[in-house]
Formats: sequence, C-alpha cells, structure tokens
Amino acid sequence: LKICFVASEIAPLAKTGGLADVAGVLPRHLHALGHEVRVFMPLYSSMSNGVLRDARPVAAAQNVPLALGAHRYSFTILESRLPNSSVPLYLVHCPEVYDRPSIYTSGVDEHLRFLVLQRATLDACQRMQFAPDILHCNDWHTALMPMMLKSVYAWDSLFAATRPVLSIHNIGYQGIFPAGTTYDIGGDVSRLISPETAAGGACNWLREGVRHAHRVTTVSPTYAKEICTPIGGHGLDGVLRSRADGVVGILNGVDYNDWNPATDRYLKHHYSPENLSGKRFTKRSLLDWLNLSVSDSAPLVGVVSRMTVQKGFDLLFDSLPRILETRDMGLVALGSGEPHYENFFVHLQQRFPDRVVFHRGYSEELSHLIEAASDMFLMPSQYEPCGLNQMYSLKYGTAPIVRRTGGLADSVQMWDPATRQGTGVVFNDFDVPAVEWAIHTALDFFKDQDGWTQLMLNGMAQDFSWDRQTGEYVKLYRELTGKWD
Ligand code: ADP
Ligand code: GLC
Repeated sequence: LKICFVASEIAPLAKTGGLADVAGVLPRHLHALGHEVRVFMPLYSSMSNGVLRDARPVAAAQNVPLALGAHRYSFTILESRLPNSSVPLYLVHCPEVYDRPSIYTSGVDEHLRFLVLQRATLDACQRMQFAPDILHCNDWHTALMPMMLKSVYAWDSLFAATRPVLSIHNIGYQGIFPAGTTYDIGGDVSRLISPETAAGGACNWLREGVRHAHRVTTVSPTYAKEICTPIGGHGLDGVLRSRADGVVGILNGVDYNDWNPATDRYLKHHYSPENLSGKRFTKRSLLDWLNLSVSDSAPLVGVVSRMTVQKGFDLLFDSLPRILETRDMGLVALGSGEPHYENFFVHLQQRFPDRVVFHRGYSEELSHLIEAASDMFLMPSQYEPCGLNQMYSLKYGTAPIVRRTGGLADSVQMWDPATRQGTGVVFNDFDVPAVEWAIHTALDFFKDQDGWTQLMLNGMAQDFSWDRQTGEYVKLYRELTGKWD
C-alpha cells in the first residue's frame, strides 16, 4: 500500500507528548512490512541540524506559492529520512510560520501554521505524483485534510482512490478557530462544512475531520467507547455517534528499541526479568545523584508527564502531602506545563526536601532514569486516550498506579496477592479518597517483596510491541482500500 502519514510532531525530531512517539515509530513498522510510506511534518526551526544535514529540496516542490485566503506563503519540501531508518521524510520548510521558539504557539496565525502543513503535504503529493491509497492524519493539526480532498483537491484524479483515516490521539484538543478562518482553508467548503460553522459558529477542525474521514480511529479500545459518551466526547460525542462505522480503537505500541531496560542507552546498569539487580543499582545511583535520603528498602514513586488537567494531578494536592507525612517513600517527578501543577511539585519538594525531587522541564534521559529507578509510576489521569508511560513502566518492572480510564484500563491489571496475577494498582473513581487508597495499597503491596517481585515480572512479561499493533492498522487500511495484496 502507498501511505501518506502526516503529523505535527514526530520523535525524536520534535516532541511534546505521545503523538510524537507514535508518529515516529508506526511509519517505520509499516515500511518494514513492505508498504510505501511517506511521512510529512513541518520543519521547525527548533529541530536539530542533524536531520537537515541529509535533507535535499524536492526538485518539483521548491518555492511553491500557497494562498490561504488573503495570506500568501511560499514553501519548499525537503526530503530526508526518519532518523536511523530508510523511511522517506518530507519536511515542509516555511520559515515564516515555523520559525518559532516552540512547536505550538498561541499566536493569531496558529491555524495558518497547520493549514500550511496540510495544503503543502497535498500539493507535494501532486508535484511528486504520489497517489496515496491511505492518507493517515493525526489529531486536529491535520484533521482538515479529508475535507480538503473533497474541496481543494477534488478535481485531481490523483487522489480519486485515496482513503483518509483520522486518528484521534486526544479529543481534548480540537483546533477551534473563529468562523472567519474557514475561508483560509481554500476551495469551496460551504457545502462541506458542518452546519454549526456554516451558521456562523467557530470552525472546529477535529469535528470536520470526524465528519469527512473515511474512518476514524483512536488509540485504545476503551477510549473509543469513552469519546462516544457526553463525558468523554468533549462535545464531539454526537458527531462520533452519528458515524455508522463508529470509532476503531487500536492500542498504541511501545518502541522496545528505545524502551527496554536490557539495552536502554541511558542506563549504566541494565537489567532483565532474569536478573533484576541492575534496577536496584539504578535506583541507588539516581537517589544518590539527586541527594535524596531514601533507603533502598523504601519505595520510590516516579512521575513523568505533561502537567495539564488531563493528567489528574488535582487529586494529589491534598493526598500526596498526607501520604508523604505518614509513609516512608521517595518521589521523583519530571514535567512541565500549567504553573499551578508545577508549583504544587515545587512546594512538595520544599516541604520534603530529603525525599522529593521535582525537575521542571523536559529531559529524555531523566525520563528513562525515572522509569528504571522507580518502584512505582503514578498516572492518576482524569482521561487518558492511551498513555505510553504506563506501558514503559511495565517493561521496566515499575508498577503503574493508574486510574481505570482509556488506555490505562486496557494495559494495566489490578494485582491480586491471592492469585499473584496482575501488573499494577488500578482505581476507579476520579476523587481524592480513591487515589489515596491506590497509593497506600501499592505501598502496602510493596512490603511483601516476594509478591512484589512477581508483580514486576508479570508487568515485564507484557508485550505491547508495535509489531502486533501495526497489523491492526494494515487490516484497517486493506478494508478501506479493498487492496488485499
Ligand atoms: P501524552 O501524549 O498525553 O503526553 P503519553 O503517555 O502518551 O502522554 O506520552 C508522553 C510521552 O512524552 C512519553 O514518551 C513521555 O516519556 C514523554 N514525556 C512527557 N513529559 C516529559 C518530560 N518532561 N521529559 C521527558 N519526556 C516526557
Ligand atoms: C495523546 C494522549 C496519550 C496518547 C498519545 C499518543 O497525547 O494524551 O494518552 O498515548 O496521544 O497516542
């Protein structure tokens, strides 16, 4: 199959969260199965020069003019490869919109930045005469492409058989822009746009994606159900339910080349189910390095996260200080985001300086060290489309403490000391008593070191590799295109 895969962030080139992890690895697996995948993303000025060293302008796509309503741009497509692979990567070079300090901005031209990505991608396909069987869009930044195929590009037979798929990684972010911006999309969208926008309402990109994509997927089976309900749908449950073919939930995979304690490039002491001693050494050296006075026998809890309301940290404001007061434990947290969550962790560190460290910011290395050194990983998410860190934790023998929602529900099973089955601690209700119960329960389980080792081994034996999950996407692509060979 010929697949055009488009995303706003792709690891390791540009990343703010799990979307980048998925977009960085799924195309490689599709490519390995013999499909012709071409990946498109913006060329952000913040990207390292490494990727640019091998990048060459595509002869047919240099200084291409692009009109978005009254706005005029010019872009060039640079061809490179996904790092350490032979998957073709096409970078949309348009410094006027991508030369910014961060991947996303809150500027007035944010919609134009991602219109450039979408239009430039389809223009580039035309100029390269690449006729994709599947156009795989991800999240709101690329959600207008299915509608563009029916409007701006409807005349071009190149796309006649192209089936657009939209994957929702997070329905909490929809790309909602003032009604007037609709004209910037180009083409005649008046008969395609949703009635709400036609009547003068805001233009909601994700909603248009759901309406016009051939198939809508999301990143776990449980989240697929949740977003079709008023609580989980963030206003889009109605339009999702109105699709006769529903929403397909495919759990994300893990890139075990990157996330494997036996080979992890950031670890000095590797370990595996056969020999767990490297985990103890890693914990000791992280504690020493961070100057924490936590004994080897006290549990260490890890947090690595974007600090947004989605992640459920509101539940910790009251519970975590209480728990730290009464229980012997350490906490290492890494993340950045909304100031009140960051401040909470800053205060926690000030109050318990011997046992709590908060590192504000983004650090690939520290995220690996925390996964490896911790005994438990805390993810009390309010909602979680898939979540990757709990799956990384399982592989690292770090028991996830999670709420039963989205992909967390699909990947972590409650430990039962009687049957010695289960991989973590799972709580149901989004409230303080529930999270407090979950953390205490995990700390209690930890006291039985024999049971705990079994709990770790159960987690380490789980397999969330992309090899399996990629097959699910291929099956879907084949259903949509009718191409079975
Ligand atoms: P989300 O995409 O909602 O942020 P996921 O669990 O799917 O949640 O993915 C988050 C990804 O981002 C993981 O790879 C995680 O390790 C990484 N990550 C999040 N915050 C940080 C940080 N501060 N430093 C390093 N990595 C981070
Ligand atoms: C989103 C979700 C996260 C998911 C990731 C990759 O950012 O918040 O749960 O794992 O996308 O699909």
